[in-house]
Amino acid sequence: MYTEKVMDHFEHPRNVGELENPSGMGTVGNPKCGDIMRIYLDIDENQVIRDVKFKTFGCGAAVATSSMATELVKGKTIQEAMTVTNKAVMEALDGLPPVKVHCSLLAEEAIHAALWDYAQKNGITIEGLEPPKDNIEEEEDGEDY
Ligand code: FES
Repeated sequence: MYTEKVMDHFEHPRNVGELENPSGMGTVGNPKCGDIMRIYLDIDENQVIRDVKFKTFGCGAAVATSSMATELVKGKTIQEAMTVTNKAVMEALDGLPPVKVHCSLLAEEAIHAALWDYAQKNGITIEGLEPPKDNIEEEEDGEDY
């Protein structure tokens, strides 16, 4: 059911963890399954993504797609990172079963949310970047539980 590349990234996910003082951070939820993904970006003064980490409560497909997505954006400029869509990630993994396609959206949306956070903090506009729909940061920060 899963390609070798998906299994490899699921069993040995790259870039798992967190970054201290990230340049941008995005947390999104998947409305279909309720799973959560957080991406941390370290972006240098030339707008190159120096480092990236992710944490997820997602399924195996979410782990594999996030692992691949982080590999694809690492070392890229923020504008190049905008071209890393869930489709590009799925192609890099040689495909996903149709029922798992929604899982691959988490990584793309979390990267966009982290880029949005970076853009907000630095007062810049990233071409083609929309405000994140499912950024759940505020809810998380606002409540004690
Ligand atoms: Fe939730 Fe895959 S089932 S991310």
